[in-house]
Amino acid sequence: MDEITREHVEKYLHNLLLPRDALLTRLEAEAEQRNIPIVGPHAASFLALTARSIRARRILEIGTAIGYSTIWLARACGRGGRVITIEVNEETAEEARKNIADAKLSKQVTVIVGDGMEVIPTLTGRFDFVFNDADKHQYRDLVELILPKLKRGGIIATDNVLWAGRVASIENDPTTQAIRNFNEFLKDHPALETVTVPLRDGIALSRKH
Ligand SMILES: C[S@@+](CC[C@H](N)C(=O)[O-])C[C@H]1O[C@@H](n2cnc3c(N)ncnc32)[C@H](O)[C@@H]1O
Repeated sequence: MDEITREHVEKYLHNLLLPRDALLTRLEAEAEQRNIPIVGPHAASFLALTARSIRARRILEIGTAIGYSTIWLARACGRGGRVITIEVNEETAEEARKNIADAKLSKQVTVIVGDGMEVIPTLTGRFDFVFNDADKHQYRDLVELILPKLKRGGIIATDNVLWAGRVASIENDPTTQAIRNFNEFLKDHPALETVTVPLRDGIALSRKH
């Protein structure tokens, strides 16, 4: 993926990261080898720090992949916390379950196989923090579904909102346009205060009033 920041800055930032344990290091290597689009250590540590800062106890993630970001988030909400993560692909979800078990987090994390659009309406209770990292064309609809289930002061983090910088170019393919529309939707939403952070592929942090 093209990075938003220049290559030498990316390398510099990379060197400032805290070391990860053997499991996360293995998952980073596997994701790179198999071209799995995980959020990566810098964005993951930013999300984890944000979740920890608001003392998030109940976290929802849409788009589990192999469970990399799930492990970061589950660690951020501690032993008493819970993460529900939704993955549409059954095989991928199974792989995530194994990695989450390796991290000894199976009690804190529930992996649900299904489409976020169908699963979210069935979830009960409220969330402190949501990581929105699935289909870019569904971002807006997912946020609409999530909002009534987000506590006041809760945060929705949405990944890839700069789409390798394409949102700020003349490109007009459907995904770029969908993300552009989504960013405008967040900016204008009366219930949300949003800041877009140009970290990795861009993360929008939206706080519910
Ligand atoms: C970018 S990857 C998630 C990466 C993961 N959050 C991480 O950083 O480690 C997106 C994942 O969302 C899943 N996905 C796509 N559309 C979905 C949907 N409608 N509901 C649930 N999962 C979906 C894909 O199968 C894929 O595994």
